Amino acid sequence: MLTSYAAHFDTPAGYLDFARFGPPSRDAVAATARAMEETARADHTTVDGLMRAEDTAREAAARLAGTDAAHTVLLPNASTGVFHAALGVRDGVVLVPRSDFPANHYPWRRSAHLGRATPRWLDPEPGGGVTPELVRATLTDDVVALSVSAVDFRTGFRADLTALREAIGPDRLLIVDAIQGFGVADLPWSAADVVIAGGQKWLRAGWSTGFATLSDRALEHLEPVLTGWTGVEHVGLFDGAEHPPAPDARRWSITNLSPVTAASFTAALELVERHTVPAIEAAIELRITELTEAVTAHGGHILSPTTPSHRAGILSFTLPDHDPALVAKALHAEGVTPTVRTDSLRLSPHASTPPEATERVATALSSLRGR
Ligand SMILES: Cc1ncc(COP(=O)(O)O)c(C=O)c1O
Repeated sequence: MLTSYAAHFDTPAGYLDFARFGPPSRDAVAATARAMEETARADHTTVDGLMRAEDTAREAAARLAGTDAAHTVLLPNASTGVFHAALGVRDGVVLVPRSDFPANHYPWRRSAHLGRATPRWLDPEPGGGVTPELVRATLTDDVVALSVSAVDFRTGFRADLTALREAIGPDRLLIVDAIQGFGVADLPWSAADVVIAGGQKWLRAGWSTGFATLSDRALEHLEPVLTGWTGVEHVGLFDGAEHPPAPDARRWSITNLSPVTAASFTAALELVERHTVPAIEAAIELRITELTEAVTAHGGHILSPTTPSHRAGILSFTLPDHDPALVAKALHAEGVTPTVRTDSLRLSPHASTPPEATERVATALSSLRGR
Protein backbone atom coordinates (compact mmCIF):
# COMPACT_ATOMS: atom_id res chain seq x y z
CA MET A 1 0.00 0.00 0.00
CA LEU A 2 1.27 3.46 -0.86
CA THR A 3 0.43 5.08 2.48
CA SER A 4 0.79 8.72 1.41
CA TYR A 5 -1.47 8.06 -1.60
CA ALA A 6 -3.96 6.00 0.43
CA ALA A 7 -4.36 8.92 2.85
CA HIS A 8 -6.38 10.75 0.16
CA PHE A 9 -9.17 8.15 0.02
CA ASP A 10 -12.10 6.91 2.07
CA THR A 11 -12.50 3.70 0.04
CA PRO A 12 -13.40 0.62 2.15
CA ALA A 13 -10.49 -1.83 2.61
CA GLY A 14 -12.24 -4.65 0.73
CA TYR A 15 -13.06 -2.63 -2.39
CA LEU A 16 -11.45 -4.63 -5.21
CA ASP A 17 -13.34 -3.42 -8.27
CA PHE A 18 -11.17 -0.64 -9.68
CA ALA A 19 -11.37 -2.21 -13.13
CA ARG A 20 -15.06 -1.29 -13.05
CA PHE A 21 -15.06 1.98 -11.11
CA GLY A 22 -12.42 3.76 -9.06
CA PRO A 23 -13.82 5.57 -6.00
CA PRO A 24 -12.46 9.14 -6.21
CA SER A 25 -10.14 10.86 -3.74
CA ARG A 26 -11.30 13.43 -1.23
CA ASP A 27 -9.38 15.94 -3.39
CA ALA A 28 -11.52 15.09 -6.45
CA VAL A 29 -14.74 15.23 -4.42
CA ALA A 30 -13.75 18.60 -2.93
CA ALA A 31 -12.78 20.00 -6.34
CA THR A 32 -16.15 18.91 -7.75
CA ALA A 33 -18.07 20.44 -4.84
CA ARG A 34 -16.06 23.68 -5.05
CA ALA A 35 -16.66 24.06 -8.78
CA MET A 36 -20.37 23.26 -8.46
CA GLU A 37 -20.75 25.71 -5.58
CA GLU A 38 -19.10 28.41 -7.67
CA THR A 39 -21.67 27.84 -10.42
CA ALA A 40 -24.43 28.50 -7.91
CA ARG A 41 -23.00 32.00 -7.33
CA ALA A 42 -22.07 32.67 -10.94
CA ASP A 43 -21.13 36.16 -12.05
CA HIS A 44 -19.46 37.46 -15.22
CA THR A 45 -16.14 35.75 -14.31
CA THR A 46 -17.40 32.32 -13.21
CA VAL A 47 -17.78 30.31 -16.42
CA ASP A 48 -14.49 31.46 -17.95
CA GLY A 49 -12.76 30.87 -14.61
CA LEU A 50 -14.13 27.34 -14.24
CA MET A 51 -13.29 26.49 -17.83
CA ARG A 52 -9.61 27.04 -17.09
CA ALA A 53 -9.73 23.65 -15.30
CA GLU A 54 -10.00 22.09 -18.76
CA ASP A 55 -6.60 23.47 -19.79
CA THR A 56 -5.07 22.32 -16.51
CA ALA A 57 -6.53 18.81 -16.92
CA ARG A 58 -5.39 18.62 -20.54
CA GLU A 59 -1.86 19.61 -19.58
CA ALA A 60 -1.72 17.07 -16.74
CA ALA A 61 -3.05 14.25 -18.97
CA ALA A 62 -0.52 15.21 -21.65
CA ARG A 63 2.38 15.09 -19.17
CA LEU A 64 1.35 11.66 -17.90
CA ALA A 65 1.04 10.40 -21.49
CA GLY A 66 4.41 11.85 -22.45
CA THR A 67 3.11 14.42 -24.92
CA ASP A 68 1.91 18.05 -24.91
CA ALA A 69 -1.44 19.78 -24.65
CA ALA A 70 -1.68 20.41 -28.41
CA HIS A 71 -1.72 16.65 -28.96
CA THR A 72 -4.29 16.05 -26.19
CA VAL A 73 -8.04 16.52 -26.03
CA LEU A 74 -10.43 16.01 -23.14
CA LEU A 75 -13.28 13.57 -23.72
CA PRO A 76 -16.38 12.64 -21.72
CA ASN A 77 -15.45 8.91 -21.77
CA ALA A 78 -13.31 6.37 -23.59
CA SER A 79 -16.00 5.26 -26.05
CA THR A 80 -16.27 8.71 -27.60
CA GLY A 81 -12.56 8.55 -28.35
CA VAL A 82 -12.80 5.16 -30.03
CA PHE A 83 -15.65 6.48 -32.20
CA HIS A 84 -13.54 9.48 -33.24
CA ALA A 85 -10.71 7.13 -34.20
CA ALA A 86 -12.88 4.55 -35.96
CA LEU A 87 -14.86 7.01 -38.03
CA GLY A 88 -11.67 8.86 -38.84
CA VAL A 89 -10.13 5.93 -40.73
CA ARG A 90 -11.19 6.38 -44.34
CA ASP A 91 -10.92 2.79 -45.51
CA GLY A 92 -8.88 -0.40 -45.21
CA VAL A 93 -8.80 -3.15 -42.60
CA VAL A 94 -8.33 -2.56 -38.87
CA LEU A 95 -7.18 -5.38 -36.59
CA VAL A 96 -9.37 -5.57 -33.48
CA PRO A 97 -9.30 -8.26 -30.76
CA ARG A 98 -12.60 -10.12 -30.48
CA SER A 99 -11.75 -10.53 -26.78
CA ASP A 100 -11.65 -6.76 -26.18
CA PHE A 101 -14.29 -4.84 -24.29
CA PRO A 102 -17.12 -4.02 -26.74
CA ALA A 103 -16.28 -0.31 -26.53
CA ASN A 104 -13.55 -1.28 -29.01
CA HIS A 105 -15.99 -3.24 -31.23
CA TYR A 106 -19.03 -1.12 -32.01
CA PRO A 107 -17.20 1.89 -33.44
CA TRP A 108 -15.52 -0.41 -36.00
CA ARG A 109 -18.81 -2.14 -36.81
CA ARG A 110 -20.35 1.28 -37.38
CA SER A 111 -17.49 2.39 -39.62
CA ALA A 112 -17.86 -0.83 -41.65
CA HIS A 113 -21.61 -0.21 -42.06
CA LEU A 114 -20.78 3.26 -43.34
CA GLY A 115 -18.51 1.75 -45.99
CA ARG A 116 -15.33 2.97 -44.32
CA ALA A 117 -12.78 0.89 -42.33
CA THR A 118 -13.69 -2.74 -41.66
CA PRO A 119 -12.59 -4.73 -38.61
CA ARG A 120 -10.67 -7.99 -38.85
CA TRP A 121 -11.12 -9.83 -35.56
CA LEU A 122 -8.09 -11.18 -33.72
CA ASP A 123 -8.52 -14.23 -31.49
CA PRO A 124 -5.90 -14.30 -28.72
CA GLU A 125 -5.25 -17.49 -26.76
CA PRO A 126 -7.55 -17.74 -23.71
CA GLY A 127 -5.82 -16.00 -20.81
CA GLY A 128 -3.34 -14.47 -23.23
CA GLY A 129 -3.67 -11.29 -25.20
CA VAL A 130 -2.69 -9.54 -28.38
CA THR A 131 0.91 -10.49 -29.09
CA PRO A 132 3.18 -9.31 -31.93
CA GLU A 133 3.12 -12.88 -33.30
CA LEU A 134 -0.68 -12.86 -33.50
CA VAL A 135 -0.61 -9.48 -35.23
CA ARG A 136 2.08 -10.54 -37.73
CA ALA A 137 0.10 -13.68 -38.60
CA THR A 138 -2.92 -11.60 -39.64
CA LEU A 139 -1.14 -8.65 -41.21
CA THR A 140 -1.90 -8.05 -44.90
CA ASP A 141 -1.21 -5.06 -47.14
CA ASP A 142 -4.74 -3.70 -46.67
CA VAL A 143 -4.34 -3.41 -42.88
CA VAL A 144 -4.16 0.27 -41.92
CA ALA A 145 -4.41 0.11 -38.13
CA LEU A 146 -4.45 -2.00 -34.98
CA SER A 147 -6.91 -1.02 -32.26
CA VAL A 148 -6.17 -2.72 -28.96
CA SER A 149 -6.53 -2.43 -25.18
CA ALA A 150 -3.34 -1.66 -23.30
CA VAL A 151 -4.59 -3.85 -20.46
CA ASP A 152 -7.23 -6.52 -21.03
CA PHE A 153 -10.40 -5.86 -19.01
CA ARG A 154 -10.97 -9.56 -18.40
CA THR A 155 -7.53 -10.92 -17.53
CA GLY A 156 -5.28 -7.91 -16.94
CA PHE A 157 -2.99 -9.02 -19.78
CA ARG A 158 -0.63 -6.13 -20.49
CA ALA A 159 0.03 -5.51 -24.16
CA ASP A 160 3.63 -4.91 -25.22
CA LEU A 161 2.99 -1.63 -27.03
CA THR A 162 6.58 -1.28 -28.27
CA ALA A 163 6.53 -4.77 -29.79
CA LEU A 164 3.08 -4.17 -31.31
CA ARG A 165 4.37 -0.97 -32.90
CA GLU A 166 7.31 -2.91 -34.34
CA ALA A 167 4.96 -5.61 -35.62
CA ILE A 168 2.73 -3.19 -37.56
CA GLY A 169 5.55 -0.93 -38.72
CA PRO A 170 5.76 2.87 -38.71
CA ASP A 171 3.02 3.59 -41.28
CA ARG A 172 0.01 1.89 -39.72
CA LEU A 173 -1.88 3.47 -36.84
CA LEU A 174 -1.68 2.00 -33.34
CA ILE A 175 -4.88 2.93 -31.50
CA VAL A 176 -4.86 2.10 -27.79
CA ASP A 177 -7.73 1.94 -25.32
CA ALA A 178 -5.74 2.74 -22.18
CA ILE A 179 -8.61 2.87 -19.68
CA GLN A 180 -7.52 -0.27 -17.78
CA GLY A 181 -3.92 0.85 -17.37
CA PHE A 182 -3.45 4.61 -17.62
CA GLY A 183 -2.09 6.06 -14.38
CA VAL A 184 -1.36 2.65 -12.85
CA ALA A 185 0.83 0.89 -15.43
CA ASP A 186 4.01 2.51 -16.68
CA LEU A 187 3.55 1.78 -20.39
CA PRO A 188 5.34 3.36 -23.38
CA TRP A 189 2.35 5.42 -24.52
CA SER A 190 4.42 7.23 -27.15
CA ALA A 191 4.54 3.97 -29.14
CA ALA A 192 0.84 4.55 -29.90
CA ASP A 193 -0.73 7.05 -32.30
CA VAL A 194 -3.92 7.34 -30.30
CA VAL A 195 -4.18 6.79 -26.54
CA ILE A 196 -7.70 6.94 -25.12
CA ALA A 197 -8.76 6.76 -21.48
CA GLY A 198 -11.81 7.45 -19.35
CA GLY A 199 -11.07 8.81 -15.88
CA GLN A 200 -13.70 6.88 -13.94
CA LYS A 201 -11.69 3.73 -13.25
CA TRP A 202 -8.02 3.67 -12.26
CA LEU A 203 -7.60 7.46 -12.43
CA ARG A 204 -10.38 7.82 -9.84
CA ALA A 205 -11.74 11.06 -11.28
CA GLY A 206 -15.43 10.08 -11.40
CA TRP A 207 -17.64 9.59 -14.44
CA SER A 208 -17.72 11.92 -17.45
CA THR A 209 -13.96 12.47 -17.49
CA GLY A 210 -11.37 11.27 -19.99
CA PHE A 211 -8.96 12.25 -22.71
CA ALA A 212 -7.18 11.15 -25.85
CA THR A 213 -3.75 11.91 -27.21
CA LEU A 214 -3.07 12.02 -30.95
CA SER A 215 0.35 11.68 -32.58
CA ASP A 216 1.30 13.80 -35.58
CA ARG A 217 0.64 10.70 -37.71
CA ALA A 218 -2.87 10.40 -36.25
CA LEU A 219 -3.54 14.10 -36.86
CA GLU A 220 -2.43 13.66 -40.44
CA HIS A 221 -4.25 10.40 -41.24
CA LEU A 222 -7.47 10.42 -39.19
CA GLU A 223 -10.23 12.39 -40.87
CA PRO A 224 -11.91 14.64 -38.27
CA VAL A 225 -15.45 13.59 -39.20
CA LEU A 226 -17.03 14.26 -35.79
CA THR A 227 -15.61 17.74 -35.21
CA GLY A 228 -18.20 19.96 -33.55
CA TRP A 229 -18.43 23.71 -33.09
CA THR A 230 -15.82 23.68 -30.28
CA GLY A 231 -13.29 21.72 -32.37
CA VAL A 232 -12.81 24.29 -35.12
CA GLU A 233 -10.68 27.37 -35.69
CA HIS A 234 -12.07 30.67 -34.36
CA VAL A 235 -14.46 28.92 -31.96
CA GLY A 236 -16.03 32.11 -30.65
CA LEU A 237 -16.80 33.57 -34.07
CA PHE A 238 -20.44 32.82 -34.92
CA ASP A 239 -20.46 34.04 -38.52
CA GLY A 240 -22.52 31.26 -40.12
CA ALA A 241 -19.50 30.03 -42.11
CA GLU A 242 -17.92 26.58 -41.90
CA HIS A 243 -14.65 26.89 -39.99
CA PRO A 244 -11.87 24.36 -40.63
CA PRO A 245 -11.11 21.79 -37.91
CA ALA A 246 -8.48 22.88 -35.40
CA PRO A 247 -5.00 21.82 -36.53
CA ASP A 248 -4.33 20.08 -33.20
CA ALA A 249 -6.08 17.41 -31.10
CA ARG A 250 -8.86 19.87 -30.25
CA ARG A 251 -10.44 18.77 -33.56
CA TRP A 252 -11.88 15.81 -31.59
CA SER A 253 -14.01 18.21 -29.57
CA ILE A 254 -17.75 17.97 -30.30
CA THR A 255 -18.93 20.49 -27.72
CA ASN A 256 -17.97 21.92 -24.34
CA LEU A 257 -17.50 19.40 -21.57
CA SER A 258 -18.36 20.06 -17.95
CA PRO A 259 -15.85 22.34 -16.21
CA VAL A 260 -17.06 20.74 -12.98
CA THR A 261 -15.87 17.28 -14.04
CA ALA A 262 -12.71 18.88 -15.46
CA ALA A 263 -11.96 20.17 -11.95
CA SER A 264 -12.28 16.65 -10.61
CA PHE A 265 -10.15 15.26 -13.45
CA THR A 266 -7.41 17.79 -12.72
CA ALA A 267 -7.35 16.84 -9.03
CA ALA A 268 -7.20 13.13 -9.92
CA LEU A 269 -4.43 13.48 -12.49
CA GLU A 270 -2.33 15.69 -10.25
CA LEU A 271 -2.62 13.15 -7.44
CA VAL A 272 -1.23 10.46 -9.76
CA GLU A 273 1.57 12.77 -10.85
CA ARG A 274 2.53 13.59 -7.27
CA HIS A 275 2.70 9.93 -6.22
CA THR A 276 4.09 8.74 -9.58
CA VAL A 277 2.91 5.90 -11.79
CA PRO A 278 5.85 3.57 -10.97
CA ALA A 279 5.14 3.83 -7.21
CA ILE A 280 1.41 3.24 -7.73
CA GLU A 281 2.16 0.34 -10.06
CA ALA A 282 4.53 -1.32 -7.56
CA ALA A 283 1.96 -1.09 -4.77
CA ILE A 284 -0.71 -2.68 -6.96
CA GLU A 285 1.64 -5.45 -8.10
CA LEU A 286 2.35 -6.37 -4.48
CA ARG A 287 -1.39 -6.72 -3.76
CA ILE A 288 -1.93 -8.73 -6.97
CA THR A 289 0.88 -11.11 -5.99
CA GLU A 290 -0.63 -11.65 -2.52
CA LEU A 291 -4.16 -12.04 -3.86
CA THR A 292 -2.93 -14.55 -6.44
CA GLU A 293 -1.29 -16.58 -3.64
CA ALA A 294 -4.43 -16.44 -1.49
CA VAL A 295 -6.74 -17.49 -4.34
CA THR A 296 -4.38 -20.31 -5.40
CA ALA A 297 -3.99 -21.51 -1.80
CA HIS A 298 -7.77 -21.90 -1.58
CA GLY A 299 -8.03 -23.97 -4.76
CA GLY A 300 -8.77 -21.11 -7.17
CA HIS A 301 -7.90 -21.36 -10.85
CA ILE A 302 -6.14 -18.19 -12.05
CA LEU A 303 -7.22 -16.89 -15.47
CA SER A 304 -4.80 -13.92 -15.50
CA PRO A 305 -1.14 -13.97 -16.58
CA THR A 306 1.08 -15.04 -13.69
CA THR A 307 4.25 -13.28 -14.89
CA PRO A 308 4.28 -9.78 -13.34
CA SER A 309 5.54 -8.07 -16.51
CA HIS A 310 2.61 -9.55 -18.48
CA ARG A 311 -0.12 -8.29 -16.18
CA ALA A 312 -1.44 -5.14 -14.55
CA GLY A 313 -3.98 -4.66 -11.74
CA ILE A 314 -6.52 -7.33 -12.64
CA LEU A 315 -6.78 -10.84 -11.20
CA SER A 316 -9.47 -13.10 -12.65
CA PHE A 317 -10.21 -16.54 -11.30
CA THR A 318 -12.71 -19.35 -10.89
CA LEU A 319 -13.20 -21.60 -7.92
CA PRO A 320 -13.79 -25.07 -9.40
CA ASP A 321 -17.17 -26.56 -8.44
CA HIS A 322 -18.36 -23.23 -7.06
CA ASP A 323 -20.80 -20.92 -8.80
CA PRO A 324 -19.21 -17.43 -9.04
CA ALA A 325 -22.42 -16.01 -7.56
CA LEU A 326 -21.87 -18.12 -4.43
CA VAL A 327 -18.21 -17.13 -4.19
CA ALA A 328 -19.34 -13.51 -4.53
CA LYS A 329 -21.77 -13.98 -1.65
CA ALA A 330 -18.93 -15.19 0.58
CA LEU A 331 -16.73 -12.26 -0.52
CA HIS A 332 -19.53 -9.75 0.11
CA ALA A 333 -19.98 -11.20 3.60
CA GLU A 334 -16.34 -10.28 4.30
CA GLY A 335 -16.83 -6.75 2.95
CA VAL A 336 -15.03 -7.53 -0.33
CA THR A 337 -16.27 -5.98 -3.58
CA PRO A 338 -15.25 -8.11 -6.60
CA THR A 339 -16.51 -7.96 -10.18
CA VAL A 340 -18.88 -10.91 -10.58
CA ARG A 341 -19.30 -12.53 -13.98
CA THR A 342 -21.35 -15.61 -14.83
CA ASP A 343 -18.16 -17.61 -15.46
CA SER A 344 -15.55 -16.00 -13.19
CA LEU A 345 -14.65 -13.36 -10.62
CA ARG A 346 -12.32 -10.43 -10.99
CA LEU A 347 -10.32 -8.68 -8.25
CA SER A 348 -8.70 -5.34 -9.02
CA PRO A 349 -6.89 -3.58 -6.15
CA HIS A 350 -5.34 -0.10 -6.20
CA ALA A 351 -2.34 1.45 -4.46
CA SER A 352 -4.65 2.45 -1.60
CA THR A 353 -5.76 -1.16 -1.01
CA PRO A 354 -4.44 -2.35 2.39
CA PRO A 355 -3.04 -5.86 3.06
CA GLU A 356 -6.24 -6.50 5.03
CA ALA A 357 -8.06 -6.90 1.70
CA THR A 358 -6.13 -10.08 0.97
CA GLU A 359 -6.93 -11.43 4.45
CA ARG A 360 -10.61 -10.81 3.85
CA VAL A 361 -10.48 -12.64 0.51
CA ALA A 362 -8.68 -15.57 2.19
CA THR A 363 -11.27 -15.71 4.97
CA ALA A 364 -14.13 -15.64 2.44
CA LEU A 365 -12.63 -18.40 0.31
CA SER A 366 -11.84 -20.60 3.31
CA SER A 367 -15.49 -20.28 4.42
CA LEU A 368 -16.40 -22.09 1.18
CA ARG A 369 -14.17 -25.09 1.91
CA GLY A 370 -16.14 -28.32 1.90
CA ARG A 371 -19.31 -26.54 0.74
C1 LIG B 1 -11.30 -1.79 -21.83
C2 LIG B 1 -12.47 -0.88 -21.67
N1 LIG B 1 -12.71 0.06 -22.59
C3 LIG B 1 -13.74 0.91 -22.47
C4 LIG B 1 -14.63 0.83 -21.42
C5 LIG B 1 -15.79 1.78 -21.36
O1 LIG B 1 -15.32 3.05 -21.11
P1 LIG B 1 -16.26 4.34 -21.21
O2 LIG B 1 -17.44 4.07 -20.33
O3 LIG B 1 -15.37 5.43 -20.66
O4 LIG B 1 -16.63 4.55 -22.61
C6 LIG B 1 -14.43 -0.13 -20.43
C7 LIG B 1 -15.35 -0.18 -19.29
O5 LIG B 1 -15.60 -1.08 -18.62
C8 LIG B 1 -13.32 -1.02 -20.56
O6 LIG B 1 -13.08 -1.96 -19.65
